[in-house]
Amino acid sequence: MRAEQSGSMAIRGRAAAGAAAVVLVLAGLGTGLMPASAQAPAPAVDGAEVFASSCAGCHGASGEGGLGPQLAGNADLANSALVVNQILFGGEIMPAFAPMLTDEQIVAVSNYIRTSWGNTNDTPTTLEEVTQTRTEGGPASAG
Ligand code: HEC
Repeated sequence: MRAEQSGSMAIRGRAAAGAAAVVLVLAGLGTGLMPASAQAPAPAVDGAEVFASSCAGCHGASGEGGLGPQLAGNADLANSALVVNQILFGGEIMPAFAPMLTDEQIVAVSNYIRTSWGNTNDTPTTLEEVTQTRTEGGPASAG
């Protein structure tokens, strides 16, 4: 009787330890995944969010312009290469965003400004284009 009881207690103890281990593993997964999904670019980056946090200060929340030129109804934005170069490498006043934004964020923000505020585009900026411009273009080749 005694042996049986302590045996079943041991089993219960092991089951409890197992459950605790599962909880710990799940908690570990949770804490491991949450910062990653908060920081790493999600598969679908929100171009409007990138614009609001990185560009609106100079170009206006609705692309109306400010320190930077107006982007609303701006015919230059039809040219994806111009936009991608401007974002990656900056200009006289505009900072280069190559060190600050991922290629995915640049694709998203480029397509956002190129299709917002009356701008229309049937030639979207592609990830390939941004990656290639980042590696091959730049201040060195632009002068
Ligand atoms: C510090 C202010 C500033 C910030 C921040 C800024 N820009 Fe600019 N942007 C400018 C200025 C000024 C110009 C004009 C060229 C120059 O002097 O740099 C410009 C030019 C441009 C142009 C070319 C417009 C044209 O008519 O040819 C585009 C496109 C553009 N910016 C997009 C962006 C995007 C997208 C972001 C955010 C990722 C951004 N800018 C952030 C100031 C800024």
